[in-house]
Amino acid sequence: MDLERALGLIAEVPDFPEPGVLFRDLSPLFADAAGFRAVVDALGDTVDPGTDLLAAVEARGFLLAAAVGYARGLGVVLVRKPGKLPSVAGRVDYALEYGTAALELPSGVVTSGQRAVVVDDVLATGGTVAAACELLEKAGATVSGVSVVMELSALDGRSALTGRTVSSLLKV
Ligand code: PRP
Ligand code: HPA
Repeated sequence: MDLERALGLIAEVPDFPEPGVLFRDLSPLFADAAGFRAVVDALGDTVDPGTDLLAAVEARGFLLAAAVGYARGLGVVLVRKPGKLPSVAGRVDYALEYGTAALELPSGVVTSGQRAVVVDDVLATGGTVAAACELLEKAGATVSGVSVVMELSALDGRSALTGRTVSSLLKV
């Protein structure tokens, strides 16, 4: 399946999770074998050959980063929501499009100087990916790129990621 058709599988859901929010639901894309492959291949193409590891943001980022990591021969660091990790290297609290959240990085999985690419499904306000980048950099990694499937341009997530290389397969 070509990429454009694959991205066309993303559904628009009005008023979720709250009134006034137009939610882009990637579930139909993830569930379609050819669509999922097309998106994983395209996301993999955005990852620079010099990359040492992928950092995946819970939860949908896990799915994508796992597939890209397998395809590109890279390991995946799980950037997790609080309370999941037995040993935490760092925690960052941040604002979401709707509500607040925090992310944690596991201890002992990032080596100083490694070049990491952050993988997620959606870039909205950018708070989530910015928090992931901050965690990685505090652990001594260099964030060499950010790769997402979809960018919600109206929310200007790139302004939270100034100076970073951001690749998105679709801007809406
Ligand atoms: C969603 C999405 C991104 C984030 C984008 O995650 O997967 O990680 O929001 O928003 P931002 O750019 O405004 O920070 P969410 O935590 O809602 O859900 P998930 O656990 O289903 O991936
Ligand atoms: N879709 C999926 N995830 C999101 C969205 C969205 O519209 N906004 C913030 N995170």
